[in-house]
Amino acid sequence: MHKSVKDILDKKKTGQKISVITAYDYTLASLCDKAGVDIMLVGDSAGMVMLGYESTIPVTMDQMVLFTEAVSRARQNSLVVADMPFMSYQASASDAIANSGRLIKAGADAVKLEGGKVVAQTIRAIVETGIPVMGHIGFQPQTTTLAQGYRVQGRTADTARTLIEDAKALEEAGAFSIALEMVTSEVSKIISETVSIPTIGIGSGRFCDGQVLVVHDVLGMYDKLKPKFVKQYLSLSDEITKAVSSYRSEVESAKFPAEENWFTMEKSELERLLKEIGR
Ligand code: KIV
Repeated sequence: MHKSVKDILDKKKTGQKISVITAYDYTLASLCDKAGVDIMLVGDSAGMVMLGYESTIPVTMDQMVLFTEAVSRARQNSLVVADMPFMSYQASASDAIANSGRLIKAGADAVKLEGGKVVAQTIRAIVETGIPVMGHIGFQPQTTTLAQGYRVQGRTADTARTLIEDAKALEEAGAFSIALEMVTSEVSKIISETVSIPTIGIGSGRFCDGQVLVVHDVLGMYDKLKPKFVKQYLSLSDEITKAVSSYRSEVESAKFPAEENWFTMEKSELERLLKEIGR
């Protein structure tokens, strides 16, 4: 049986940290699930690391459904949370309910959407249909990129107060957890101590109840952005480039394939064939 929302809530109650990693495809999701992470987040960061967009803004519901289906087919242990892409929940609560329902039908256990107080009513509407929601405050890639670029959030007392109020509003609306992106460590600590639901930090310091990173950053597979908060545990881009270039040069020099990589006919069948075709 895979993890449930209750298991995630219990982790905060018992003081255990929550591990979250993004996943978008069957193969990597199988490996992340096997590694025992608590949550696999089908993030709309898929738009950048899987589809090559400059931001998450172009990502569509159809694309998120496809990624969510692939990840949920791989999952045996983790909770699967899927991101609601830009404009899938902002226009109306009924859009939000219909689109979150599509992600649940695709195999997600919960959805995540960006915003503070302004999306509290939307979150309440989704939760009332029975769908668990993770909030997302601090740096919000779907909108902050347009307005201000990548910026740490909560450096001043005023912005910090807004973040704390946003977190409380999401908890009151029924969110089961809140992602805190690029929030100062001091403010993340206050929020984590103020709300009873788990906070999941990305670039928000060690006082959050859990941490999330993009799997391509952890594995060193995406070189376009290298934020300070990322810890790279492998350099897969170098390893992959090296492996593919060895393959290319072995194809060019006819070293690959070798005898162990091909199939052969029975000798008698070959002789019969050669006779029949006159060779
Ligand atoms: O889309 C994403 O990957 C995210 C996380 C990094 C929080 O929203």
